[in-house]
Amino acid sequence: MSELQPGQVLTHLEIGPVAHGGHFVARHEGRVVFVRHALPDEVVDVRLTQVTRRFARADAIAVHQASPHRVVPPCPIATRCGGCDFQHVEPGYARELKRRVVAELLGHLAGYDFTGEVEEVEPSPLGWRRRMRYHVDQEGRPGLRAHRSGEVVALPEGGCRIADPAIASPPRLPGRAGGELLGVVATSGTGFMRSDEPETLTEVVGELSYLVDADGFWQAHASAPRVLLERVLSGLEPKAGERALDLYCGVGLFAGALAKRDLRVWGVEGDKRAVVLAQRNVPSARFVAGDVARRFAQLPEQADLVVLDPPRTGAGAGVLAAVAARGPRAIAYVACDPAALGRDLRTLADLGYQPTSLSAHDLFPMTHHVECVAILEPRR
Ligand SMILES: C[S@@+](CC[C@H](N)C(=O)[O-])C[C@H]1O[C@@H](n2cnc3c(N)ncnc32)[C@H](O)[C@@H]1O
Repeated sequence: MSELQPGQVLTHLEIGPVAHGGHFVARHEGRVVFVRHALPDEVVDVRLTQVTRRFARADAIAVHQASPHRVVPPCPIATRCGGCDFQHVEPGYARELKRRVVAELLGHLAGYDFTGEVEEVEPSPLGWRRRMRYHVDQEGRPGLRAHRSGEVVALPEGGCRIADPAIASPPRLPGRAGGELLGVVATSGTGFMRSDEPETLTEVVGELSYLVDADGFWQAHASAPRVLLERVLSGLEPKAGERALDLYCGVGLFAGALAKRDLRVWGVEGDKRAVVLAQRNVPSARFVAGDVARRFAQLPEQADLVVLDPPRTGAGAGVLAAVAARGPRAIAYVACDPAALGRDLRTLADLGYQPTSLSAHDLFPMTHHVECVAILEPRR
């Protein structure tokens, strides 16, 4: 096998199936090459971006045989900006690719047969992002980070295509070099602000109102809070008086909805500032600051319902064992990484919990990301 080098061009690679992470699998002299900006059944030239002993990564740079699902990217910087990796994919087919990834990972990791679709969520596929983090270059121009790089890519004319139009074209900041500029659309207002001077905003979801720091966690897609709340509540069917845990609770999105239905609610969140806001947002609930894995001693020993909404790494075996030990009649697991969800579903199965439903939502159009919600109950 010839030695491969980053920067090297390989020609006429046949592209195979989609893989997790927005890559497409090809082979060169027996070695797996994960290719960005390609599609299944295409024949492309690629430039290697990383070479390891087991695999290589590459970007497609020329297409000899194009997929019928390939489209002209709406954004002219799509191949350089790290934000979107599915701009070249017809949106319906992008959801089909995500469905394949979810089905493959959940089948392989958890033995779960996912038969659903990845549901489209409006606004889609452009103008959906209500939180933007721009990086300011040495000339004071806000731009976006390149893929796996600190380089700042200048925004195109017309601004970022997936951002809400109100925050798609940030102003230039003369005299400023470096730093970050946040673009935020919230119920209480729209604007740009420095990330080291974030404002506190109000977000309204149905009949619920939440204070949130502009730099703190809030779902990026305009419809995500509503869609996730509806899915979690319809799955859990909460009843007044029940005990519920909202783990990885942020500023209390799920805690607020559960408290509104007269449940007794406890929330845990690692970001101290979010915990302060969660307590103001949901005064009847009790919030604990810190690592979920280390805070179970401050939670009730029994719970009827548990919501888990961990970061991309998932909840992990220790947290899941502590959840199962509380004997909930139902668990809602909100997951932004189907691989972590697959691993955690396997652990939960060993702890006696099985999914009764699992939905997938396209809350990140134009990217490979997908959000899943699993509802689990004790195995009978
Ligand atoms: C995906 S967000 C969900 C937040 C909230 N459920 C919502 O929808 O707005 C994950 C949250 O977990 C918090 N977090 C990450 N790791 C944590 C940990 N080990 N313990 C507690 N919270 C953590 C983050 O600060 C973030 O607020």
